[in-house]
Amino acid sequence: MTASRLTTHSPPSAPPSKQAIADLLTEARDRTLLLVSTVSDEDLHRQHDPLMSPIIWDIGHIAHFEELWLTQNLDGPIEFSEMPGLYNPFEHPRATRASLALPTLSEMTTRLREIRARVLDRLDSVEFDDANPLLRDAYVYNMVLQHEYQHNETILQTLQLKKGDPYRAPRKVSFAARKPVSPEMASFGGGQVSIGTDDRSSAYDNERPKHLIDVAPFQIDRFPVSNAQFLEFIRDNGYEREEFWSDGGKRWLAETGATAPKYWSREGDGWTTRTMDVTRPLDLTRPVCHVCYYEAEAFAVWAGKRLPTETEWEVAASWNPSTRRAQAFPWSDAPVDSRFANIDQLAFDTAPIGTHDRNVSPIGCYGMIGDVWEWTSSDFTRYPGFESFPYKEYSEEFFGPDYKVLRGGSWATRPGAIRNTFRNWDYPIRRQIFSGFRCARDA
Ligand SMILES: [Fe+2]
Repeated sequence: MTASRLTTHSPPSAPPSKQAIADLLTEARDRTLLLVSTVSDEDLHRQHDPLMSPIIWDIGHIAHFEELWLTQNLDGPIEFSEMPGLYNPFEHPRATRASLALPTLSEMTTRLREIRARVLDRLDSVEFDDANPLLRDAYVYNMVLQHEYQHNETILQTLQLKKGDPYRAPRKVSFAARKPVSPEMASFGGGQVSIGTDDRSSAYDNERPKHLIDVAPFQIDRFPVSNAQFLEFIRDNGYEREEFWSDGGKRWLAETGATAPKYWSREGDGWTTRTMDVTRPLDLTRPVCHVCYYEAEAFAVWAGKRLPTETEWEVAASWNPSTRRAQAFPWSDAPVDSRFANIDQLAFDTAPIGTHDRNVSPIGCYGMIGDVWEWTSSDFTRYPGFESFPYKEYSEEFFGPDYKVLRGGSWATRPGAIRNTFRNWDYPIRRQIFSGFRCARDA
């Protein structure tokens, strides 16, 4: 593949209304507090898993990140290291955070209110100065909002891992049963496409710049891999047959002794799965969730396929062959909401594949956004022309072969934190995340 810089200019956008920003900040905080409203103070302070922070730490970190960016740094130099020590993720690894002197929920609530009052006060007098990249198009406000949205999903990973009684999820929607889908693949005939974005109002630095790439023809599954398909892999002794597993995968298998996705349990001849407080017989029509990269990779080998690269994933989600341009979302440029996809923490579960009939990309891939994050075969690397902004601790420190890219968001992702160009990354052994996959092959 070759890459070249595409020079495009976004049309000038009207300055966002301050009231709209204030409303979004309020809405984001209401959601965070709703998610934890059924969790006791004790459970908020507990380390439910060494992988995750105590939830009260996430809440404090959300607030102090907001304070750092929306009060202190608006007028001065930007230094992520100014994050107060207690809530600086680089100073305190997750597994140690329960030993920190974290405030009670009521102390924390007071702190949240104080910080928010100062943020709104500052918003009143702020000028969305085009010459300041932090303030142009209110970028820094969108960044802070996305940060809170993203920590909501982290909190939900913790709540799914919760010790003691399962988390009582405030479900708003449920889905009707559907017929299983047939395994079909969509095709991309090859050619030059654009990847990434030049958006400077809300995209992260790692999504920029937009650039042209020549992509070889490929095929990609029209649907995410379902529980039914994954069960076939298990029944064919997929976890025992070494030929499907890479060296990393074999090491992971030996260390964990895994025989099924996380949260699957064998019940007699069948299986059950648990999502938060709902345990039910395995629904064969939903996408498989809570698999690590190595499980996805082994399944793909077993199926005679491979995982898509993140470029192929983005082409399948965004490229419109008739208009010869990339769309922001699979269906169009219209932003995602719950009519289009299973998103926004409304169902606290995946949906049967096919539930959202508008969630189809121009080349015919269903469900690229929502339900489950999809593993790709790509390491998390910088795009040609990447510039760190506004702090290198967001993306740049993570570039390299240690992390694999995931795309598309999950049921636990808030709409403001997902789009076709959005890149997530994690260690290939992780499966507490809401992760599934689809397969691809050369055409
Ligand atoms: Fe954070």
